Amino acid sequence: MCGIVGYIGALSAKEVLLNGLGRLEYRGYDSAGIALMGEDGGAPQILKTTNKVEALRKDAEAVPDAHAGIGHTRWATHGAVNVINAHPHRAGRVTLVHNGIVENYQRLRARLADQGRTPVSETDTEIAAMLIDSYYRGDPHEAVRRAAADMEGSFTLAILFDDHPDKVYAICRNSPLTVMHTGQGSFLGSDVLAFLHYGRKYYAPANDLLCELTAEGIAFFDPADRPVALQEKTVDWDVDSADKQGYPHYMIKEIHEQPSVLRRTVRQYIVEDRVDFSCDDLEPDLFEGVEHVHIVACGTAMHAGLTAKPMFEQLAGVLVSVEVSSEFRDREARINPRTLYILVSQSGETADTLAALRRIREGGAKLLSVINVKGSTMARESRNVVYTQAGPEIAVASTKAFTTQVAVLFLVALKMAQDRGVDVSNEVAALRRVHKQVERVLSRRPAIAEAARMLAAARDIFYLGRGMDMALAEEGSLKIKEISYIHAEAYPAGEMKHGTISLIEPGVPTVLIATQKNCYAKSLLCAQENRSRGGEVLLIVPDGWHVEKDGADVVLRIPGDGGFMSAFGAAATLQLLAYECAYQKGMPIDQPRNLAKSVTVA
Ligand code: M6R
Repeated sequence: MCGIVGYIGALSAKEVLLNGLGRLEYRGYDSAGIALMGEDGGAPQILKTTNKVEALRKDAEAVPDAHAGIGHTRWATHGAVNVINAHPHRAGRVTLVHNGIVENYQRLRARLADQGRTPVSETDTEIAAMLIDSYYRGDPHEAVRRAAADMEGSFTLAILFDDHPDKVYAICRNSPLTVMHTGQGSFLGSDVLAFLHYGRKYYAPANDLLCELTAEGIAFFDPADRPVALQEKTVDWDVDSADKQGYPHYMIKEIHEQPSVLRRTVRQYIVEDRVDFSCDDLEPDLFEGVEHVHIVACGTAMHAGLTAKPMFEQLAGVLVSVEVSSEFRDREARINPRTLYILVSQSGETADTLAALRRIREGGAKLLSVINVKGSTMARESRNVVYTQAGPEIAVASTKAFTTQVAVLFLVALKMAQDRGVDVSNEVAALRRVHKQVERVLSRRPAIAEAARMLAAARDIFYLGRGMDMALAEEGSLKIKEISYIHAEAYPAGEMKHGTISLIEPGVPTVLIATQKNCYAKSLLCAQENRSRGGEVLLIVPDGWHVEKDGADVVLRIPGDGGFMSAFGAAATLQLLAYECAYQKGMPIDQPRNLAKSVTVA
C-alpha cells in the first residue's frame, strides 16, 4: 500500500504535503514525492526521492512554495524502487499520485501504445495518468470519469491538471480516501492522520465519487456527474495519540498505551457485569444457532483468532477454526450457512481479508468483523462490526491492536457462552482487570530488556507453547522476525521431539511460554529437553508458579495465575522482548524493511 496526500488553500502546500506524508509513512517508505502547483498553472514542480520523507523535505527547501499540490509515499508493487517509478507520475497535462493496483493496466498499456503513447516507468500508475490524459479535452470531470470507467482493481488517485491550477481532484475505488475542508483550505489523504492537525471533521467518499477540491470547498460528483451531498464524520479519538509523545518509537509508545486502550475496549462491551454488544447494533440473531465459528484474518490479527480459539471452545462449546485470509481465498472455501465467520483486521483494508469478507457475504453466511479503523472499507462493507478501541496504530509491528483484538474476541466468546446459559461472571470480571496485568508487565521492562540480550545475539530462535500459549508463541516469533530480522520459528512444544529438536544446539535459544496449568509440567519438561541439548531457555510463567533452580536459563514472570487472561501479560512480555532486542541491535523499529502497515494488495 501507499499513502497519498493533497492540498489546496492559503497555507504552504509544501509544508502541508510534507507533514502529511510524514504521518502516512507507515503506509510505505520505498520512495516519496510531491508535485507543487503554481497559481498560474503549467507543469507542476515535481520532486521525488528513494529516501525517506525527511530527505524529500530537505530537497524541497530549494524549490519555491505553492498553494496546491499532491504527494505520495510508496510501498512498491509494480516496478523496482527507483526514482522513475516513484510518484507523482505525469502524462501530457496530467500529474497524479496513486494508491492501489490497476489490475488491467497491461491491457490499457497495450491500448495506449496503439495511440503512440509509451510509458517511461514500469508502474500501473503512469498508465492511469496516460489514460486520463488520453481522454482530456479540457474537462477534468469527463477525463477522470471515463478513465475510471476503464480501470479495474483498486485505486485512489489525486490528480492535478496543468490548466486548472485552482483545483485538485481525487477519486477512489476499493481503496481509502478521506477529504477535509477548513477555513485554511481543502485537504485529502489516504488516512485522516495526514491532516488531523488542521481539523477533525472529514468526509470518506464512496467508490467512484469524483471529489473536486478548491481553496473554498469540496464538491462531490457521482459517475453521471451529478453533485452529491455527503455526511461529515468526526475523528473520535484523541488527536495527540497519533504522535510519539516523547517515546523514541511508535512501537514502544503503543505498547505502553495498552492498559488504557484495553480498558476502553473492554468497558464499552460490559454492562452490569454482562457482555453486551447493543451499542454496536448487531443483528439480533447473530449468535443464535451457531455450531461453528471460522475466524479469518492475516498475520497478527490471525494470531488473535488463534489465541481466542480455546476460550470459544471451552466456555461457549462451539468448534472454532482459524485460517489465514489468503488461504481462505485461494482454496475458494465453501461457505457454510451454519457457521459464524469472524473477520479480524486492524486496518479494515487488508486485501485478502476484504476478499474473504466479500466471498462470505455473497455466500449469505453470518458475518462479524472485528476492526480498529472506523470508516475503513471492511467496516463499510460489514453489517456487523465490533470495534477495538486501540486508536491509531502507526508502528508496522502490531501491538495494541493485537491485545484489543484478543479482548474483543474473548468478549464474543463470553457472549456466546452467556447466551447458552453458562455462568461467565468470573471471566467477565477478570477481563475487566486485564489492563492492570499489562501495567505490571510494563513495570518489569528492565528485566525484559536484560533477557532480550540472550535473543539479540542469536541467528535462530524457537518460540514454543502448548494450547493458547502456542498461539502466543506464533505472535512472539512474528514480532521478533519483523523488527529484528532474526529467524524465529513458533512450534508446538509437544511436537519438538518429533523431528525439530534436532535443530537445538548451543546458540539456538528457546522462548517457552507456559501459562496454562493443565500442561505446565509437560512444558517444563520441554525446557529440560532443550537445555540438555545445549539450547538456552527463556521461560515465561505466571508469578508464583514453581520453577526448579535449573529449570531455565532466564525466567520472566507475568502477573496473575495463568489461564485465559494470561494472554495479555504474556503478549506484552513478548512485545517488549522483541522491541528491546531490535533496539539493542539498532534496527529501524517503526519501519522494518520490505513491510508496510497494511497490505492492500493480494
Ligand atoms: O490490518 P490488518 O490487521 O488486517 O493487518 C494484518 C497483518 O498484515 C498485520 O497484523 C501484520 O501481521 C502486523 N502488522 C504484524 O505486526
